[in-house]
Amino acid sequence: MRLENKVAVVTGAASGMGKSIAVLYGKEGAKVVVSDINEEGANQTVDEIKANGGDAIAIMANVAKEEDIQNLIDTAVNTYGTLDILVNNAGIMDNFEPAGDIEDDKWERVFAINTTSVMRATRKAIPIFLEKEKGVIINVASAGGLQGARAGAAYTASKHAVVGFTKNTGFMYAQKGIRCNAIAPGGVETNISSSMTGVNQFGIGRIQPGLGFNPRIGKPEEIANVALFLASDESSFVNGAVITADAGWTSY
Ligand SMILES: NC(=O)c1ccc[n+]([C@@H]2O[C@H](COP(=O)([O-])OP(=O)(O)OC[C@H]3O[C@@H](n4cnc5c(N)ncnc54)[C@H](O)[C@@H]3O)[C@@H](O)[C@H]2O)c1
Repeated sequence: MRLENKVAVVTGAASGMGKSIAVLYGKEGAKVVVSDINEEGANQTVDEIKANGGDAIAIMANVAKEEDIQNLIDTAVNTYGTLDILVNNAGIMDNFEPAGDIEDDKWERVFAINTTSVMRATRKAIPIFLEKEKGVIINVASAGGLQGARAGAAYTASKHAVVGFTKNTGFMYAQKGIRCNAIAPGGVETNISSSMTGVNQFGIGRIQPGLGFNPRIGKPEEIANVALFLASDESSFVNGAVITADAGWTSY
């Protein structure tokens, strides 16, 4: 039980990696606040955690809305008394658009969900962590936050921003008992493609050759294991880091 009595908030926990992270945290003894825009899916994750003997609640939150993030963290604290672990996981893809084809609406939506939400949830958690002089933040970035052509320009820029935000936050609060790290997954078998509204043929064509170097697609559980390490005290010396989990795709 590596997370016994810890209170963890996981965004985007109705599906994919967020769901796997929430379920694994529950098995490791954490009280899990399962948050998603998809309330039904979040409830299913809660049911799974409870079926395993764990403790969890579902909170509907659209991470693109500041008031939803305020409510999410406030409800977590009101329900379980505190917050120990924040996992900023919710995210969406773009449609592989290169710069010349970006529409303002799409750019702003990708940044609101993938990037601004990470800042807002972190900003809300920091005073709680400062008071306790302890806290962990885990941001699910992407191989697209490190490399230039894993998605379109908007997604790539949004995840590079998450990487920069992670490093800055990790360093700023390093002497306050707060750690902030990111995971950069490669291709993982989830429902992320359902967030796409089309495919830019030029963009996907440019990216296609690199897909051939991907050794394999990962399972969400393989990312959850990294998120468990980062949440637990086993990673006490790891801060401001980006852990790549991609079977070696980016090492080519
Ligand atoms: N799947 C991959 O290959 C891959 C690779 C690298 C990084 N990522 C990142 O992993 C994270 C998790 O994605 P996934 O692959 O598990 O996808 P997924 O679509 O299976 O899960 C994402 C979850 O986020 C939720 N979500 C979407 N918009 C939201 C919003 N506005 N507010 C709250 N919740 C919202 C969805 O409802 C869904 O439950 C994302 O940040 C994604 O960018 C995915």
